[in-house]
Amino acid sequence: MTATALYTDLSGYYDLMCADIDYREQSDYVRRLHELLGNGGKHYLDLACGTGPHIRHFIDFGYQASGVDINQPMLDIAQSRCAEAHFSQQDMSALQLHEEMDLISCFLYSIHYNQSIARLTECIQSVYRALKPGGMFCFNAVDKDQIDNRPGIKRNITYNNSDFCFQSGWYYSGSGEQQALQLRIEKTTNGITEQWRDQHSMVAISFAQLTELLTPLFEVHRLSHDYQRITPWQNQSGNAFFVAIKH
Ligand SMILES: C[S@@+](CC[C@H](N)C(=O)[O-])C[C@H]1O[C@@H](n2cnc3c(N)ncnc32)[C@H](O)[C@@H]1O
Repeated sequence: MTATALYTDLSGYYDLMCADIDYREQSDYVRRLHELLGNGGKHYLDLACGTGPHIRHFIDFGYQASGVDINQPMLDIAQSRCAEAHFSQQDMSALQLHEEMDLISCFLYSIHYNQSIARLTECIQSVYRALKPGGMFCFNAVDKDQIDNRPGIKRNITYNNSDFCFQSGWYYSGSGEQQALQLRIEKTTNGITEQWRDQHSMVAISFAQLTELLTPLFEVHRLSHDYQRITPWQNQSGNAFFVAIKH
């Protein structure tokens, strides 16, 4: 089992690093999509759920929610945030559930943590088996052919008398099925700076390949990466939100 520092040793900083993500907006977007395209059921699973912010919102929307993640320190935080939910430590490429779901999500490009196209295929197949008829699978993804290799934007946050600087960005060499998520965290307290660098190996795939993997099992909708409105993806951006309805 792979572990990355951010999700194990630094799990306590994860929510701070994501402080500017609007989890409510993302969850509400998926809730609306599920209302439009789903099967009406309320059994929900979040894959690579991290510290459980989406699960919290789905419980509040009235769903019976659960989460899967590979790193136990993230699940421990998720469980304290969502006492009502069931969590299990699993690799999403070999997902095993006791009951079928109506909605399965995977946010923040975490679907790319399937380490190869073969593992991603296994993940898609296990999600398919885990869904009820008409069940919905949704996730955001980045097209390998449109990755911008420049360093990502820096975000600065002050918390508990320390100044934090977080930076993350994609890197793709231009060939092969691996891309990297590069992360840098700096913490400065009383003039002393500590620094962590983390590099996560992730699967690189084009949207055409991804659509081809999903199409035999699902009706596929590719939407623009905009959580405020539901509009089709128009080929103009390297990010998209995929919605897959089980045939
Ligand atoms: C970027 S975080 C996203 C967390 C959460 N979905 C969010 O939106 O804040 C990625 C998560 O994926 C988990 N992860 C990485 N590889 C995984 C795998 N193969 N199976 C399940 N979870 C995995 C990590 O432990 C981490 O919690």
